[in-house]
Amino acid sequence: MNVDLRILRYDPESPSLTSAAKPAPAAGERAARAAESSGRPSAPPKPHWVTYQVEVDPMDRVLDLLIKVKAEQDGSLSFRRSCGHGICGSDAMLINNRNRLACRIRVDQLGKKISVAPLPGLPVVKDLVVEMSGFFGKYRSVKPYLINDQPEPERERLQSAGDRARYDDTTKCILCAACTTACPSFWARPEYVGPAAIVQAHRFIFDSRDEGAAERLEILADENGVWRCRTIFNCVDACPRGINITRAILEVSGAIVGRRG
Ligand code: SF4
Ligand code: FES
Repeated sequence: MNVDLRILRYDPESPSLTSAAKPAPAAGERAARAAESSGRPSAPPKPHWVTYQVEVDPMDRVLDLLIKVKAEQDGSLSFRRSCGHGICGSDAMLINNRNRLACRIRVDQLGKKISVAPLPGLPVVKDLVVEMSGFFGKYRSVKPYLINDQPEPERERLQSAGDRARYDDTTKCILCAACTTACPSFWARPEYVGPAAIVQAHRFIFDSRDEGAAERLEILADENGVWRCRTIFNCVDACPRGINITRAILEVSGAIVGRRG
Protein backbone atom coordinates (compact mmCIF):
# COMPACT_ATOMS: atom_id res chain seq x y z
CA MET A 1 0.00 0.00 0.00
CA ASN A 2 0.96 3.67 -0.45
CA VAL A 3 0.78 6.28 2.27
CA ASP A 4 1.14 10.05 2.22
CA LEU A 5 3.82 10.83 4.76
CA ARG A 6 3.84 14.55 5.67
CA ILE A 7 6.95 15.66 7.48
CA LEU A 8 7.53 19.07 9.00
CA ARG A 9 10.93 20.02 7.62
CA TYR A 10 13.09 22.77 9.04
CA ASP A 11 16.71 23.53 8.42
CA PRO A 12 17.90 26.69 10.16
CA GLU A 13 21.05 26.56 8.04
CA SER A 14 19.30 26.90 4.70
CA PRO A 15 17.20 29.72 3.21
CA SER A 16 13.45 29.14 3.14
CA LEU A 17 11.82 28.03 -0.08
CA THR A 18 8.32 29.06 -0.99
CA SER A 19 7.49 25.83 -2.79
CA ALA A 20 5.21 23.51 -0.78
CA ALA A 21 7.31 20.50 -1.69
CA LYS A 22 10.89 21.31 -0.80
CA PRO A 23 13.16 19.68 -3.34
CA ALA A 24 16.50 18.02 -2.85
CA PRO A 25 18.95 19.68 -0.44
CA ALA A 26 21.16 20.92 -3.23
CA ALA A 27 18.28 23.21 -4.25
CA GLY A 28 18.52 24.98 -0.89
CA GLU A 29 22.14 25.81 -1.63
CA ARG A 30 21.18 26.92 -5.15
CA ALA A 31 18.54 29.27 -3.73
CA ALA A 32 21.10 30.76 -1.35
CA ARG A 33 23.62 31.23 -4.18
CA ALA A 34 20.96 32.78 -6.43
CA ALA A 35 19.93 35.21 -3.68
CA GLU A 36 23.58 36.05 -3.04
CA SER A 37 24.35 36.71 -6.71
CA SER A 38 21.22 38.88 -7.07
CA GLY A 39 22.33 40.96 -4.08
CA ARG A 40 19.16 40.09 -2.15
CA PRO A 41 19.51 38.68 1.37
CA SER A 42 18.11 35.15 1.53
CA ALA A 43 14.79 34.78 3.36
CA PRO A 44 14.95 33.40 6.90
CA PRO A 45 14.28 29.68 7.00
CA LYS A 46 10.80 28.56 8.02
CA PRO A 47 9.33 25.19 8.95
CA HIS A 48 7.35 23.75 6.04
CA TRP A 49 5.46 20.54 5.34
CA VAL A 50 6.74 18.16 2.69
CA THR A 51 4.68 15.19 1.55
CA TYR A 52 6.35 11.95 0.48
CA GLN A 53 4.58 9.04 -1.16
CA VAL A 54 5.89 5.88 0.44
CA GLU A 55 5.22 2.26 -0.45
CA VAL A 56 4.76 0.45 2.87
CA ASP A 57 3.56 -2.67 4.60
CA PRO A 58 0.74 -2.05 7.13
CA MET A 59 2.96 -3.58 9.82
CA ASP A 60 5.79 -1.11 9.14
CA ARG A 61 6.59 1.36 11.91
CA VAL A 62 6.82 5.08 11.25
CA LEU A 63 10.56 4.77 11.87
CA ASP A 64 10.73 2.34 8.90
CA LEU A 65 9.05 5.01 6.75
CA LEU A 66 11.46 7.72 7.82
CA ILE A 67 14.42 5.46 7.10
CA LYS A 68 12.96 4.67 3.69
CA VAL A 69 12.42 8.34 2.81
CA LYS A 70 15.98 9.16 3.87
CA ALA A 71 17.44 6.24 1.89
CA GLU A 72 15.34 6.60 -1.25
CA GLN A 73 13.97 10.14 -1.56
CA ASP A 74 15.82 12.72 0.51
CA GLY A 75 19.07 12.01 2.30
CA SER A 76 18.94 15.40 4.02
CA LEU A 77 16.04 14.36 6.28
CA SER A 78 17.21 14.38 9.91
CA PHE A 79 15.79 12.40 12.82
CA ARG A 80 17.12 10.55 15.86
CA ARG A 81 16.82 6.83 16.48
CA SER A 82 18.96 4.12 17.97
CA CYS A 83 17.48 0.87 19.28
CA GLY A 84 14.43 0.64 17.02
CA HIS A 85 12.57 -1.25 19.77
CA GLY A 86 11.13 1.26 22.22
CA ILE A 87 14.02 1.14 24.66
CA CYS A 88 16.40 4.06 24.03
CA GLY A 89 13.74 6.80 23.89
CA SER A 90 15.48 8.73 21.12
CA ASP A 91 12.73 8.82 18.47
CA ALA A 92 9.78 10.44 20.22
CA MET A 93 7.95 12.69 17.74
CA LEU A 94 4.57 14.26 17.16
CA ILE A 95 2.88 11.65 14.97
CA ASN A 96 -0.67 12.35 13.79
CA ASN A 97 -0.84 15.07 16.45
CA ARG A 98 0.19 12.86 19.34
CA ASN A 99 3.59 12.32 20.94
CA ARG A 100 4.74 8.77 20.25
CA LEU A 101 7.82 6.70 19.54
CA ALA A 102 8.32 6.34 15.78
CA CYS A 103 9.69 2.83 16.29
CA ARG A 104 6.56 1.65 18.12
CA ILE A 105 3.62 3.03 16.17
CA ARG A 106 2.56 1.04 13.10
CA VAL A 107 1.08 2.19 9.81
CA ASP A 108 -2.08 0.11 10.38
CA GLN A 109 -2.69 2.09 13.59
CA LEU A 110 -2.48 5.42 11.75
CA GLY A 111 -4.05 5.09 8.30
CA LYS A 112 -2.92 6.24 4.88
CA LYS A 113 -2.22 9.83 5.85
CA ILE A 114 0.53 10.20 8.40
CA SER A 115 2.01 13.45 9.67
CA VAL A 116 5.27 13.68 11.58
CA ALA A 117 6.59 16.77 13.34
CA PRO A 118 9.22 17.37 16.03
CA LEU A 119 8.25 17.20 19.71
CA PRO A 120 6.42 20.41 20.62
CA GLY A 121 7.84 22.98 22.98
CA LEU A 122 11.55 22.30 22.39
CA PRO A 123 13.85 24.22 20.01
CA VAL A 124 14.30 22.44 16.66
CA VAL A 125 17.87 21.66 15.64
CA LYS A 126 16.85 20.30 12.23
CA ASP A 127 13.70 18.58 10.93
CA LEU A 128 12.67 16.08 13.62
CA VAL A 129 15.71 16.61 15.85
CA VAL A 130 15.06 18.78 18.91
CA GLU A 131 17.43 20.35 21.40
CA MET A 132 17.31 18.13 24.49
CA SER A 133 19.90 19.81 26.73
CA GLY A 134 17.24 21.73 28.71
CA PHE A 135 15.24 18.55 29.19
CA PHE A 136 18.27 16.64 30.48
CA GLY A 137 19.31 19.59 32.65
CA LYS A 138 15.98 19.29 34.48
CA TYR A 139 16.49 15.55 34.76
CA ARG A 140 19.89 16.11 36.40
CA SER A 141 18.45 18.78 38.70
CA VAL A 142 16.41 16.22 40.66
CA LYS A 143 19.49 14.10 41.50
CA PRO A 144 18.44 10.95 39.66
CA TYR A 145 20.84 8.58 41.41
CA LEU A 146 21.01 6.67 44.68
CA ILE A 147 22.08 8.83 47.63
CA ASN A 148 23.23 6.85 50.63
CA ASP A 149 26.27 7.81 52.72
CA GLN A 150 26.06 4.79 55.02
CA PRO A 151 29.08 2.43 54.90
CA GLU A 152 28.71 0.00 52.04
CA PRO A 153 27.49 -3.43 53.13
CA GLU A 154 29.58 -6.48 52.28
CA ARG A 155 27.06 -7.49 49.69
CA GLU A 156 24.05 -5.66 48.17
CA ARG A 157 21.73 -3.27 50.00
CA LEU A 158 18.74 -5.50 50.66
CA GLN A 159 15.18 -4.50 49.92
CA SER A 160 11.89 -6.34 50.35
CA ALA A 161 9.70 -7.16 47.36
CA GLY A 162 7.09 -4.77 48.77
CA ASP A 163 9.61 -1.93 49.03
CA ARG A 164 10.75 -2.60 45.46
CA ALA A 165 7.16 -2.54 44.20
CA ARG A 166 6.71 0.94 45.70
CA TYR A 167 8.55 2.60 42.81
CA ASP A 168 8.37 -0.12 40.16
CA ASP A 169 6.24 1.93 37.75
CA THR A 170 8.67 4.83 37.56
CA THR A 171 11.67 2.58 36.85
CA LYS A 172 10.20 2.03 33.38
CA CYS A 173 10.96 5.56 32.16
CA ILE A 174 13.20 5.74 29.07
CA LEU A 175 13.58 9.56 29.10
CA CYS A 176 11.95 10.00 25.72
CA ALA A 177 10.46 13.42 26.68
CA ALA A 178 7.05 12.55 25.19
CA CYS A 179 5.34 13.43 28.48
CA THR A 180 7.03 16.74 29.22
CA THR A 181 6.55 18.01 25.67
CA ALA A 182 2.86 17.03 25.70
CA CYS A 183 2.25 19.07 28.86
CA PRO A 184 0.47 22.45 28.49
CA SER A 185 1.98 23.59 31.81
CA PHE A 186 5.44 23.07 30.27
CA TRP A 187 4.45 24.89 27.06
CA ALA A 188 3.20 27.81 29.14
CA ARG A 189 6.20 27.86 31.44
CA PRO A 190 9.32 26.18 30.01
CA GLU A 191 11.03 26.54 33.41
CA TYR A 192 8.64 23.91 34.82
CA VAL A 193 10.73 20.86 35.69
CA GLY A 194 8.17 18.69 33.87
CA PRO A 195 6.66 15.26 34.33
CA ALA A 196 9.70 13.27 33.16
CA ALA A 197 12.00 14.76 35.81
CA ILE A 198 9.36 14.19 38.50
CA VAL A 199 9.01 10.55 37.42
CA GLN A 200 12.78 10.16 37.74
CA ALA A 201 12.75 11.81 41.15
CA HIS A 202 9.89 9.53 42.25
CA ARG A 203 11.96 6.49 41.35
CA PHE A 204 14.52 7.43 44.06
CA ILE A 205 12.34 9.27 46.58
CA PHE A 206 10.37 6.07 47.21
CA ASP A 207 13.35 3.72 47.13
CA SER A 208 13.83 2.41 50.69
CA ARG A 209 17.63 2.30 50.19
CA ASP A 210 17.89 5.98 49.29
CA GLU A 211 18.49 8.82 51.76
CA GLY A 212 18.17 11.79 49.42
CA ALA A 213 14.39 12.20 49.46
CA ALA A 214 14.47 15.41 51.53
CA GLU A 215 16.87 17.08 49.06
CA ARG A 216 14.75 16.12 46.08
CA LEU A 217 11.49 17.13 47.71
CA GLU A 218 13.02 20.52 48.51
CA ILE A 219 13.92 20.95 44.83
CA LEU A 220 10.48 19.84 43.67
CA ALA A 221 8.68 22.13 46.13
CA ASP A 222 10.14 25.07 44.17
CA GLU A 223 7.86 27.36 42.15
CA ASN A 224 8.82 25.43 39.02
CA GLY A 225 8.33 22.04 40.66
CA VAL A 226 5.35 19.76 41.17
CA TRP A 227 2.82 22.55 41.84
CA ARG A 228 2.91 23.47 38.15
CA CYS A 229 1.09 20.20 37.38
CA ARG A 230 -2.59 20.85 36.65
CA THR A 231 -3.48 17.11 36.34
CA ILE A 232 -4.30 17.47 32.65
CA PHE A 233 -3.21 13.83 31.99
CA ASN A 234 -1.61 14.58 28.58
CA CYS A 235 1.57 13.06 29.99
CA VAL A 236 -0.16 9.77 30.79
CA ASP A 237 -1.64 9.58 27.27
CA ALA A 238 1.76 10.29 25.72
CA CYS A 239 3.91 7.89 27.73
CA PRO A 240 4.98 4.93 25.56
CA ARG A 241 5.81 2.94 28.70
CA GLY A 242 2.33 3.23 30.19
CA ILE A 243 3.62 4.88 33.36
CA ASN A 244 0.94 6.43 35.56
CA ILE A 245 2.75 9.74 35.61
CA THR A 246 0.00 11.77 37.23
CA ARG A 247 -0.13 9.34 40.12
CA ALA A 248 3.65 9.63 40.54
CA ILE A 249 3.41 13.43 40.56
CA LEU A 250 0.61 13.33 43.14
CA GLU A 251 2.65 10.96 45.32
CA VAL A 252 5.60 13.33 45.21
CA SER A 253 3.45 16.37 46.01
CA GLY A 254 1.83 14.35 48.82
CA ALA A 255 5.29 13.60 50.21
CA ILE A 256 6.13 17.32 50.14
CA VAL A 257 2.96 18.14 52.06
CA GLY A 258 3.56 15.25 54.49
CA ARG A 259 7.08 16.49 55.19
CA ARG A 260 5.73 19.92 56.09
CA GLY A 261 2.93 18.53 58.25
S1 SF4 B 1 7.66 9.10 31.83
FE1 SF4 B 1 7.10 8.06 29.89
S2 SF4 B 1 6.82 9.71 28.40
FE2 SF4 B 1 7.91 10.59 30.14
S3 SF4 B 1 10.07 10.48 29.58
FE3 SF4 B 1 9.58 8.63 30.78
S4 SF4 B 1 9.01 7.08 29.26
FE4 SF4 B 1 8.96 9.05 28.19
S1 FES C 1 14.61 3.99 18.43
FE1 FES C 1 14.91 3.57 20.54
S2 FES C 1 12.98 3.98 21.41
FE2 FES C 1 12.61 4.19 19.29
